[in-house]
Amino acid sequence: MRIEEVASTAKSSRVSPHTHIKGLGLTPAGDALPLGSGFVGQEQAREACGLVVEMIKQRKMAGRALLLTGAPGTGKTALALGIAQELGTKVPFCPMVGSEVYSAEVKKTEVLMEHFRRAIGLRIKERKEVYEGEVTEMTPVETENQGGGYGKVISHVIIGLKTVKGTKQLKLDPTIHDALQKERVSPGDVIYIEANSGSVKRVGRSDAYATEFDLEAEVYVPLPKGDVHKKKDLVQDVTLHDLDAANAKPQGGQDIMSLMGQLLKPKKTEITDKLRQEVNRVVNKYIDEGTAELVPGVLFVDEVHMLDIECFTYLNRALESSLAPIVVLATNRGMCAVRGTDVSAPHGVPVDLLDRLVIVRTQTYTPEESIQILAIRAQVEGVALGEDALAFLAEVAEETSLRHAAQLLTPGAVLARSAGRGEAARGDLEEAHALFQDAKASARQLSAQADKYMT
Ligand SMILES: Nc1ncnc2c1ncn2[C@@H]1O[C@H](COP(=O)(O)OP(=O)(O)OP(=O)(O)O)[C@@H](O)[C@H]1O
Ligand SMILES: [Mg+2]
Repeated sequence: MRIEEVASTAKSSRVSPHTHIKGLGLTPAGDALPLGSGFVGQEQAREACGLVVEMIKQRKMAGRALLLTGAPGTGKTALALGIAQELGTKVPFCPMVGSEVYSAEVKKTEVLMEHFRRAIGLRIKERKEVYEGEVTEMTPVETENQGGGYGKVISHVIIGLKTVKGTKQLKLDPTIHDALQKERVSPGDVIYIEANSGSVKRVGRSDAYATEFDLEAEVYVPLPKGDVHKKKDLVQDVTLHDLDAANAKPQGGQDIMSLMGQLLKPKKTEITDKLRQEVNRVVNKYIDEGTAELVPGVLFVDEVHMLDIECFTYLNRALESSLAPIVVLATNRGMCAVRGTDVSAPHGVPVDLLDRLVIVRTQTYTPEESIQILAIRAQVEGVALGEDALAFLAEVAEETSLRHAAQLLTPGAVLARSAGRGEAARGDLEEAHALFQDAKASARQLSAQADKYMT
């Protein structure tokens, strides 16, 4: 049975509330398009977020913080995800929800610290000794199992590598054979093997094998130039947390790259403050030497009113450290008590932290905008919807929230299907709306029938 080759079919049908958001939808000049990258309206907030992205790209915003506020369902989380999309994969984006800090096992500030460090990237450039080339042969050599068990074990693997300049045959350790298997290397692939660590990287398929009609997603690369054995500049993107984790179980060499090599091994030892300082020291040294470059990313804390005074104090201080990312906070609260105190403050955020933030407000949507967003959601969720059904949902969104209205789409479609209709009509959505209450309606009912519930 070949389990690895069974293609997954589940992925395309998985839909999350924000799948339609593909970016912030701005023009190159930074103006918001009425509809762009899945975003509708909310122009000012989007332009503000675009500015944040610009500042991050120019490395001008480390240690600053932005607060997104606005009513529920006005797109705060969506905006943060839009920022993440605009930044691309090279800039770290670390999302968390305020309540994540409450864990029975780890201190609250420890959780925050870890996320902070996940949001700070490091681009390491290193010259490494490698063997690079197109694989011409790959022969594992087996011997009898010395341990007395059944079967044979691999004693070494013979691999032939070809470049434009020549070929070389290497006799390699069985661990490298495992690495080759993991990368699914087969003859005709271009790979490189790091001389020190023995880690294998598959670059792609040699373009000599490229066919004109190719359906698979394969990367074709030219035959490498130069010798098989050479020095190569490698660039790696890691976060400070990666380094902490890799160092928490130190084995082998002390240079950054051999620490990297340990990333995939199981790691579960404590990351202490002392260790972090040590990592910072090494990182600062690498930065000074020019081998590494700091890439401050984004730490996004959703539902920030869930943090308590201890966390806020920590945030205050952490924002001022030299290795700080950009912090984006979001909340839908108005005046409320700061957790852990009985002082009430705007957005549930202590005023001394508020003072350091720039605040972006999200506006509530007009009915037309709601219709547009709901239409996008219907399309993403694969729900066929009539014109008046959409209008009804927009009304629901007006009274309750956009999120609640969007959540009725799929139940409506299911109701329509069970009645044998392909398109969800207004009636189906009315039925769904009657079956599922929104938060406000439920709260109204609770207070009306308070005497019937246990308190
Ligand atoms: N301007 C918009 N364009 C397209 N989709 C949007 C827009 N605003 C919100 N949405 C979508 O509406 C839904 C609700 O938005 P979101 O979850 O971002 O709200 P929120 O402001 O974070 O609310 P809460 O305060 O309750 O967390 C999501 O599916 C989101 O993708
Ligand atoms: Mg949200």
